[in-house]
Amino acid sequence: MEMLFNCKLLKFMAGGNLNSTACKCVLLFVAVLILRTLFLPHSPGFEWSNIVYVRNQSPSVGSGIRQDKFLEVPQIVWGLNNQKIAFARACLTARMLNRTLLMPSLSASLFYKEIDLLQPISFDKVFQFDKFNALCSGFVQLGRYSDLSNATRVLEMQKGSGRKWTMERDLDQLEQHSRVSSFDDHETIRIVGKNPFLWHDHWPVKDYAKVFECLVLVDEISQEADRVVSRIRGSTEPLPYVAVHMRVEIDWMIHCKKLEQRLNTNQICSSEKEIKERVRNIADLKRPVVVYLAVADKLLKNSSILEGWEEGLVPFEKKKLGVDEIYRKYPYLIQSAIDYEVCLRADIFVGNSFSTFSSLVVLERTQKMIRNVDVRWPSYAYNVPGELNGPMRWVTNMSDSNLQAISYGTNHISS
Ligand SMILES: *[C@@H]1O[C@H](CO)[C@@H](O)[C@H](O)[C@H]1NC(C)=O
Ligand SMILES: *[C@@H]1O[C@H](CO)[C@@H](O)[C@H](O)[C@H]1NC(C)=O
Ligand SMILES: *[C@@H]1O[C@H](CO)[C@@H](O)[C@H](O)[C@H]1NC(C)=O
Ligand SMILES: *[C@@H]1O[C@H](CO)[C@@H](O)[C@H](O)[C@H]1NC(C)=O
Repeated sequence: MEMLFNCKLLKFMAGGNLNSTACKCVLLFVAVLILRTLFLPHSPGFEWSNIVYVRNQSPSVGSGIRQDKFLEVPQIVWGLNNQKIAFARACLTARMLNRTLLMPSLSASLFYKEIDLLQPISFDKVFQFDKFNALCSGFVQLGRYSDLSNATRVLEMQKGSGRKWTMERDLDQLEQHSRVSSFDDHETIRIVGKNPFLWHDHWPVKDYAKVFECLVLVDEISQEADRVVSRIRGSTEPLPYVAVHMRVEIDWMIHCKKLEQRLNTNQICSSEKEIKERVRNIADLKRPVVVYLAVADKLLKNSSILEGWEEGLVPFEKKKLGVDEIYRKYPYLIQSAIDYEVCLRADIFVGNSFSTFSSLVVLERTQKMIRNVDVRWPSYAYNVPGELNGPMRWVTNMSDSNLQAISYGTNHISS
């Protein structure tokens, strides 16, 4: 398992082009990876600079998005959450250039070594294209390749990499490509090189949140999520449910123990026992309540996750719920998208503040509360102790100037 993370780390450092036999180990863990969300290691070669970039440009510009100028980005890869962040970053880059983003390809599988195994999947097979443009109108826009008048009028823009490619240089490059007319005249600017997830971040959390809000699942997938949610709630007398994104798989445990050592904390890895105890101590938890365990069941070596819950807390995972056959029909990305939706709609969500999956769920739940103050969408982090040994209340700080905390995890959560 250790090799798995080293392998990923190597991939990052090589910018995604590594072709080393050492990475064969990845294949061994395919089974491990398939059902889980990818948590990117917090590796030293891949840290965000702590400089908070102060924008000298108002964030509200952008109504000038041109429908006849496009930005093209490389295929978007890795876990669902990384893909969402990468997609948002591509959108925000296009917005900065006042360009329409050509609808990118996502990746249905988690493979990232062999390009032919990446299983490109068109954005509109997962999210609604027209709905996206309607909801994000005036902010960012997606276009189709058929909108191009002349597919040969393309300017390639190589993103730099390495230590010398600073945030400032990256920003200069973007500004140059929007101001200098010899660049800007091109119908399409094609960014080549790294996956957008690895680009520098120039945008505040609320800009990302705005893009995520426009991502609505296609009907087929959202109906599958409906089916799962109605199984969870039961049909006779629909019960509320708590969704717990339980990270207790072996490979996560190895990774998080290392992280704890490095960050000198003990608030990252929670054991099963600790998670159960914290959930049970959530203040005002009405019983009976269904506890849906969003976990890749197959990864659990010795599954005792269904045991040891207090009376009144009724735990389910996919198998016990009888929904694993729904999931099995789909590739990794869709499975993850269904799980994400189930967590998003839960009456209470409990996750790990070091997980990108959990962090994005909380961000969207926070956004829903901001939009409609009458509705409560409480979320908690089980890895941080709160009142009475319950989990810490968790909301996303929408004024953060970048997405760092969300991408790499934190135990400093707003509450
Ligand atoms: C982008 O649009 C904004 C708002 O219309 C405008 O102020 C700005 O000059 C435009 N930038 C470019 C590069 O076209
Ligand atoms: C497309 O653009 C290229 C280069 O500018 C030009 O040579 C070609 O004639 C154009 N084709 C069409 C159909 O406009
Ligand atoms: C695995 O399960 C068995 C039986 O349920 C139990 O006795 C054993 O302690 C468990 N092992 C671990 C490592 O949890
Ligand atoms: C939210 O983030 C802003 C900007 O980083 C910071 O000034 C503020 O103190 C944060 N609020 C909370 C509640 O953490």
